[in-house]
Amino acid sequence: MPELRENEQKTLLALEKLKGRAPVDQIVKTSGLAHAAVMRAALALTENKLTRTYERKQTLISLSEEGKSYAEIGLPERRLLNSLIKLGGESTVKSAVEEAGLEKKFLSVALGWLNRKGWVIIEKGTLKSLKEPQLGEDEKLLRLLSEKEQLIVEELGQEMQKTVSVLKGRKLLEIEEKTLRELELTDNGWNLVKKGIEVVGEVSQLTPELIRTGNWRKIKLRRFNVKAPGPEVFLGKIHPVQQIIQHIREIFLEMGFTEIRGSIVQTAFWNFDALFQPQDHPARDVVDTFYLSKPKKGKLPDKETVKAVASTHENGWKTGSRGWEYSWSPEEAKRLLLRTHTTAETIHYLFEHKEPPVKVFSVDRVYRNEKLDYKHLAEFHQIEGIIMDKKVTLRDLMGTLTEFYHKLGLEKVQFWPSYFPYTEPSMQSTVYVPELKTWVELCGMGIFRPEVLAPFGVKHPVLAWGGGLERLILLKLGIEDIRVLYKNDLGWIRRTPVCQR
Ligand code: PHE
Repeated sequence: MPELRENEQKTLLALEKLKGRAPVDQIVKTSGLAHAAVMRAALALTENKLTRTYERKQTLISLSEEGKSYAEIGLPERRLLNSLIKLGGESTVKSAVEEAGLEKKFLSVALGWLNRKGWVIIEKGTLKSLKEPQLGEDEKLLRLLSEKEQLIVEELGQEMQKTVSVLKGRKLLEIEEKTLRELELTDNGWNLVKKGIEVVGEVSQLTPELIRTGNWRKIKLRRFNVKAPGPEVFLGKIHPVQQIIQHIREIFLEMGFTEIRGSIVQTAFWNFDALFQPQDHPARDVVDTFYLSKPKKGKLPDKETVKAVASTHENGWKTGSRGWEYSWSPEEAKRLLLRTHTTAETIHYLFEHKEPPVKVFSVDRVYRNEKLDYKHLAEFHQIEGIIMDKKVTLRDLMGTLTEFYHKLGLEKVQFWPSYFPYTEPSMQSTVYVPELKTWVELCGMGIFRPEVLAPFGVKHPVLAWGGGLERLILLKLGIEDIRVLYKNDLGWIRRTPVCQR
């Protein structure tokens, strides 16, 4: 038999007095112990099979403020009906409302319920009462609640429970969920109690006083159960997506890049035209791009730059290219949109920083009009970087990307030829993910075309790459559905480990 602590002994004795089974609240009263002390004792006793614990859910209802006022002056539909009857059973809505002194905000509620309850006929602003109805179930419940203050839903009949939902729907109730705990002596418990329990006083804290006087020899020190579960503690934590963004920032910084950030709202000029994407390019279609409706248009940069971009689109300007051979519209370029890629930021930055070297990156939000599914979001993040210097080449680009991936823990990297309107050559990079045993596409990249750089007066090669962040996060966290990241599911956020470096 385990050694019992004072509180456990008292709890057992209280249970004996209460004939072997009682709710915790009653044990508290009988034993004179604090509620928390009984709960703790119950835990230990149940663990030692001296008692059993039962839990029952209880739903307590009481009147809300509005409910209280209705209990006093009547439901709005009842008030309106009463005044209608006073007016002889038929009147205009207006005079019935005046007679009832009904506030405007209650009128539609009152009319709605009069109709639903079948108390009146409403026709062209006239009300006709059908009969003087008896007190409804809802009104009875309101009355009962104003007398009793609190009722336990589980103890009400089925009909009343339905009425509870009606009043709940009308926001006339306050609802409180409680767990009722009961304790019962087991056979072992009874045996022990019958043998007689002599409560021995315990001391829970050894004081200097006890030591000095030597009284510590006589007392019984209370044992602590170091295995008893404590309350759960949840530490504050940074969202997994933010942790990975932070990690990526550190990698870029280590590699000598500087972060840039720009506005989510951009003109089509920076998002598309500056990147030599023709104005009839399918990506510019409203199907993919969120355009702003108010304000619709923004400002273009200086005239000369705009002219150079326009000519490059139309005939290639000084670049030796033939351009796209169409008539470029400044109005189309002024349209405001939510940026569809962060390349809008890097090209804008180059326009303002034409001198080498430039090594910048961004990790930022972009928007595309996508149908949401496990792979796609309409709002997501891109990682983007550029290097501009006198003699950088495609090999530097592949080297930089390889190093970046290695720092992220992705060892095997491959490069494939690809296409983007603004780079030549263009490539796609894939990385091997051992956990998934497959190759996954991550960043697109290339060297900015002369048609992109010349209009902005950039004279040196620019290496550029960019790709979705969420895909990388899915790989790192081993999840399959992208939507999980933004569900604000606290359970998932708690379980997801801190990014390790
Ligand atoms: N902007 C491209 C995308 O959204 C990625 C990219 C960036 C490609 C820079 C080449 C150069 O997918």
